[in-house]
Amino acid sequence: MPVQTRATALTLTKRLRRLRTSPAMRALVQETRLSPDMLMMPLFICEGEGVRREVASMPGVFNLSVDEAVLEVAAAKADGVRGVLLFGLPEKKDDIGSAAYDPEAPVQSAIRAIKREVSGVLVATDVCLCEYTDHGHCGIVVDDEIVNDASVEQLVRAAVSHAVAGADIIAPSDMMDGRVGAIRRALDERGFEHAAIMAYSAKYCSAFYGPFRDAAASAPQFGDRKTHQMDPANVREALREVEQDIEEGADIVMVKPAVPYLDVITRVKDTFGYPTAAYHVSGEYAMLKAAGRNGWIDEPRAMMETLTGIRRAGADIIITYYAREAARVLA
Ligand code: PBG
Repeated sequence: MPVQTRATALTLTKRLRRLRTSPAMRALVQETRLSPDMLMMPLFICEGEGVRREVASMPGVFNLSVDEAVLEVAAAKADGVRGVLLFGLPEKKDDIGSAAYDPEAPVQSAIRAIKREVSGVLVATDVCLCEYTDHGHCGIVVDDEIVNDASVEQLVRAAVSHAVAGADIIAPSDMMDGRVGAIRRALDERGFEHAAIMAYSAKYCSAFYGPFRDAAASAPQFGDRKTHQMDPANVREALREVEQDIEEGADIVMVKPAVPYLDVITRVKDTFGYPTAAYHVSGEYAMLKAAGRNGWIDEPRAMMETLTGIRRAGADIIITYYAREAARVLA
């Protein structure tokens, strides 16, 4: 005899399981959907030719020379990815990060090559000094202090050089005060009023950037980033950061990292209604990869669950090292 008979059935007017009975029914009521259009793939551009060097702590992520980067962007486009975010790995660094605005440096060269050879893919560029300074700090250091306004001057030079090379989106990640406004003014004065700004507005001082600093050789040689990146404990302050960036002309605002800050994503989206990006950072990716490789987790499912959670929290754009893998699942 079946355990549940008419005689023992509960009298329920609401049975939430009705809408979970079949794949079609579940799809019908699905609240959050992902599309490859909202994914952006970070790329690390290095010097040389034919270079494709895997980052040890980020399986599937590579340091790429410009020629290899073009191939990678074309392959990503075939997977359905329509945006990339470029980071540079210069061979020579100095104390003012002058390689950040060298027109022949990896990022500027990659922008031109990608724009020339792959159509329909948005090119965004990270603007910061940490990959370009010999001390690994995001700005100019005077007496062990990262000075704001002189740093902004250098960041503006980098941003303008990216726009000159043809970048569609400029993404300052340095967290100096006033950089969005200064970059906006400089771009406009030079006729780049069409170049958009995606501001890393609420960027937290996070342990989850560890693998990135391996990939970009950008770990600070002394001290930390606590005087400019945000305290993980703060959310009201994140709203002030976002408000200020919007006032200064940001077109897209960002919360970074993503998963430990889902509440921040929701607050930012609900408060401002601006296009909101979330950066699923290197450490978040490395954890899933490591657990997947050990057979401790079903990585493809964990990947999609993670990206869905970020989207559900309110992100319109997700920057992720999983962009290609996720786009293939969504195709
Ligand atoms: C700074 C920058 C960092 C990341 C993006 N832009 C590193 C940092 O602030 O130390 C981290 C991205 C990641 O961890 O995936 N240029």
